[in-house]
Amino acid sequence: MLLLLVFLVSVLPLSTDGGEIFLGTESKPHSRPYMAFIKYYDRNSYIHRCGGFLVEKDIIMTAAHCLGRKMSVTLGAHNIREQKNIQIIPVHKAKPHEDYNGITLVNDIMLLKLERRAQLNSFVKTIALPKSQDWVKPGQVCTVSGWGELPNCSLSDRLQELNLEVQNSQKCQILESYNNSTQLCVGNPKETRATGEGDSGGPFVCDNVAQGIVSRPHCTGQLPQVFTRISSFIPWIKKTIKLLQQP
Ligand SMILES: *[C@@H]1O[C@H](CO)[C@@H](O)[C@H](O)[C@H]1NC(C)=O
Ligand SMILES: *[C@@H]1O[C@H](CO)[C@@H](O)[C@H](O)[C@H]1NC(C)=O
Ligand SMILES: *[C@@H]1O[C@H](CO)[C@@H](O)[C@H](O)[C@H]1NC(C)=O
Repeated sequence: MLLLLVFLVSVLPLSTDGGEIFLGTESKPHSRPYMAFIKYYDRNSYIHRCGGFLVEKDIIMTAAHCLGRKMSVTLGAHNIREQKNIQIIPVHKAKPHEDYNGITLVNDIMLLKLERRAQLNSFVKTIALPKSQDWVKPGQVCTVSGWGELPNCSLSDRLQELNLEVQNSQKCQILESYNNSTQLCVGNPKETRATGEGDSGGPFVCDNVAQGIVSRPHCTGQLPQVFTRISSFIPWIKKTIKLLQQP
């Protein structure tokens, strides 16, 4: 029996290692029930995807640069090709930040009002937002997740996740138009894993609180990356949710 245990302990880590995926590892199915898969069309009717997260039964938070036509949200998914447990809800109204700048990507935050309320269950849950002065600190390691690009440039069907370390703001000052008061500098440049195309709008989660929004994913996988700092937008978020929820 003891021998068997020793044997199991020594082989298990090998057999559960996903290995190939260097942009992240597959999430445990439904361990992130706040995740929303967002589908939209651009002006040329090309289809795109973004991540988002449920903050109220009828409100999704995502990045402003994920704005598009005929937006819809899938909740409760792990593999987005599977129909089980999912709720697909069209977006009734999208409200990107008024001062969002598509070139510098400052104020890259958007709220979506769903056509109907999501039904909360073990697959679909809301996530908490930070308080106004709740700053994340350099060195803190938080998790980002999404259905974005894999290393072979194909989009992922299954939710992937990745731990990234919050960096000192100086690391991002070299990037054009980084603003420390509204953005987070994320990802140790020594790491080889990063978010990719399609991960935009997803949450950066620290201790079960959504602290950041994936804003500028690098197709080249360069780190650090710039995320929207949610705690800087609490007054805007409160005001905008109220506005969207008015009948
Ligand atoms: C890309 O990689 C993923 C995960 O390793 C794999 O499941 C998928 O089949 C690959 N796609 C292509 C087109 O090779
Ligand atoms: C950074 O953002 C804040 C809040 O929007 C703004 O007041 C400040 O002027 C910005 N700083 C720079 C250097 O643009
Ligand atoms: C960046 O912002 C954080 C949060 O306000 C602050 O603690 C830190 O000192 C700032 N860094 C710089 C270089 O301004």
